[in-house]
Amino acid sequence: MNQDEIKRLFDQQAAGYDAQWARTQPIRDCLHLLLDSAFATLPGDARILCIGVGTGAELMHLARNHPGWQFTAVEPSGAMLAICRQAADRENVSARCHFHEGYLESLAATGSFDAATCLLVSQFILDPAARTGFFREIARRLAPGGILASSDLASDVASPAYDVLLRAWTNLMAAADVPAEAMERIRDAYARDVGILPPDRIASIIAAGGFQPPVPFFQAGLIHGWLSRRGNHAP
Ligand SMILES: C[S@@+](CC[C@H](N)C(=O)[O-])C[C@H]1O[C@@H](n2cnc3c(N)ncnc32)[C@H](O)[C@@H]1O
Repeated sequence: MNQDEIKRLFDQQAAGYDAQWARTQPIRDCLHLLLDSAFATLPGDARILCIGVGTGAELMHLARNHPGWQFTAVEPSGAMLAICRQAADRENVSARCHFHEGYLESLAATGSFDAATCLLVSQFILDPAARTGFFREIARRLAPGGILASSDLASDVASPAYDVLLRAWTNLMAAADVPAEAMERIRDAYARDVGILPPDRIASIIAAGGFQPPVPFFQAGLIHGWLSRRGNHAP
């Protein structure tokens, strides 16, 4: 998908996004719990960049637990970002948030953020070189040694393991055993629209963007997560 298509897709999905993914809340809870420990060394006044923040789940979790942290939420879909703003108002954290509607390239690269989140975002960039460029743009906005917590759908799509994980994932979303022909349609849609690569390949793409070797810290079904530190050299 190109950038216009991604923005259009999430503008359309925004109103129903949280309800659509409600069944995966326990997975999100686990990932957020691990985020807390991964970010435990950050200062009390840390600056956090949330890329592809969507409706704001990760930002609300971190803001609730860290009253001194400041957040910059980057999101190309105005409709998703509007829901994130409403959530921030409800949680009383808006004063600590800067909302940036647009892609990451349009945010000034100050190299000043202590940490960043990028959950289920880079998977929409199908071209590996462009995906490396995306991680480089993240690195340019982090301070040296800054931490990136990222997640993406990942698997070797040619392996038998992918069949097992895709079926389990689809059944989870449907709350039922999904018929074979529907599975084929989903497999085709993922192959067309989502850059599902083997976990090691995604780790090497992150590293090529200017990070020290990423540490795999999370897996639930097809979702994998990595912790990566920005290297000391300019990315
Ligand atoms: C699957 S949602 C995930 C939202 C949120 N991070 C979460 O975990 O619930 C992906 C979000 O990333 C945004 N997005 C897609 N490509 C992006 C890009 N290149 N840069 C920034 N955001 C992007 C989409 O608009 C969408 O809101």
